[in-house]
Amino acid sequence: MEGVADKGFSIGRHEDRVVFVKDAVPGDIVDVNVYRKRKGYYEGFMKEMRQPSKDRVEPFCKHFGVCGGCKWQHLSYEAQLHHKWLEVKNALTRIGKLDIPEIPPILPAQATQYYRNKLEFTCSNKKWLTREEIDAGIEPESFNAVGFHRPRAFDKIVDIEHCHLQAEPSNAVRNEVRKFALENNYTFFDIKRQVGFLRQMFVRTTTTGEVMVIIGFFYEDVERRMALLDHLRAKFPDLTSLMYVINEKKNNTIFDQDVKCHSGLPYIQEQLGHVRFRIGAKSFFQTNTPQALALYQIVADFAEFKGTENVYDLYTGIGSIACFVAKDCGHVTGIEEIEAAIEDAKLNSDLNELTNTTFYAGLVRDILSDSFAEKHGKPDIVITDPPRAGMHEKVVNLLLELAAPRLIYVSCNPATQARDLALMKHMYKVDKIQAVDMFPHTHHIENVVLLSKK
Ligand SMILES: C[S@@+](CC[C@H](N)C(=O)[O-])C[C@H]1O[C@@H](n2cnc3c(N)ncnc32)[C@H](O)[C@@H]1O
Repeated sequence: MEGVADKGFSIGRHEDRVVFVKDAVPGDIVDVNVYRKRKGYYEGFMKEMRQPSKDRVEPFCKHFGVCGGCKWQHLSYEAQLHHKWLEVKNALTRIGKLDIPEIPPILPAQATQYYRNKLEFTCSNKKWLTREEIDAGIEPESFNAVGFHRPRAFDKIVDIEHCHLQAEPSNAVRNEVRKFALENNYTFFDIKRQVGFLRQMFVRTTTTGEVMVIIGFFYEDVERRMALLDHLRAKFPDLTSLMYVINEKKNNTIFDQDVKCHSGLPYIQEQLGHVRFRIGAKSFFQTNTPQALALYQIVADFAEFKGTENVYDLYTGIGSIACFVAKDCGHVTGIEEIEAAIEDAKLNSDLNELTNTTFYAGLVRDILSDSFAEKHGKPDIVITDPPRAGMHEKVVNLLLELAAPRLIYVSCNPATQARDLALMKHMYKVDKIQAVDMFPHTHHIENVVLLSKK
């Protein structure tokens, strides 16, 4: 096997075919059972290990292989970083066909466990049984579970005892919710049949020690809701924010729901370097806080602000990058699709007493026009941080028309980043590249590229 792909697949070759193999790691020599043949590639699973990779390590989590997260725990962290670095290099040179300077090593994560500040657990009456449990003939007392979705089985939940992704009290709170619900005969949600009371829960933590817990119910039952929430409040008196939501919809998303406060504050606060952020129940926030700080610091370092620059921050989210760089430049204008995020961005700007930010809600391709540039002045620097799909071609063309002297492209998908940069290479050259690892044990990678006008 040669490289890593998403969903826990490794990439190998058979004659002229690319083969995606489940559960193998780069460096393994394996026999493969092919179960899917597509034009140009095969998919398969490992039939027999001929020679294990020297980069294989023992996974640290008992749920590894069953649970959908942390797919690369059996690959050493050094090897993970190397393959992510290679992915960035290959994307920029093979997809983008760009002339690039030397790519420095990827910035490793400060912590490779307990690095997430937000987790969502699903409550379900369809517990996933492991092969070992089935083989041992263990008949569970209950099929109610609180944990993560089993990949490719959307209604099945892996009951999580200990997750290595989020610091305490995350595990303690989740396990207490399950224990209380089982002891008191609460029903757990059945997403197929749309019945059951206890539906989902979120835990958000900050580096400043604040914690928000949100419990989701499928319908209102005041007595049972209050009993669980009062119990959690008594068990965990230090929770900053204890919230709940009655979600009667078919799906689990809570963005369109009214999330109410049971006790404490309706938000938590995080400190990211010199900037303070208020995070509400529905606010987006980068999920690895120390690495987000490192990422924003790279953006600021690449920008080399002199204090007067007119900056556009496209896909600004809750204005995180805009608020982070505002003290170093003349003015920042942020654009973001989600209205609630823009409300947060304005709030965060006020919280940090910034007077040089402006935020707009809407699609970048609709807002970023000539008249917009006339109103806000041509940018000296454009920072763009689009979602995985990259930028709309219209946005790339608008950026070419704007012709800012410098552009900083932050991306969570080097392939679409390379595609977009290729469309700009007649006008911009790549000056600097720095990838950051925000998600150890996954294939995800964040990459920052500094461009300057030729
Ligand atoms: C990768 S996130 C970046 C957020 C922010 N820069 C940060 O560091 O927290 C991408 C953001 O783009 C927004 N978005 C996606 N498509 C968009 C579009 N077409 N126009 C404006 N915003 C969009 C998403 O809602 C999301 O907040």
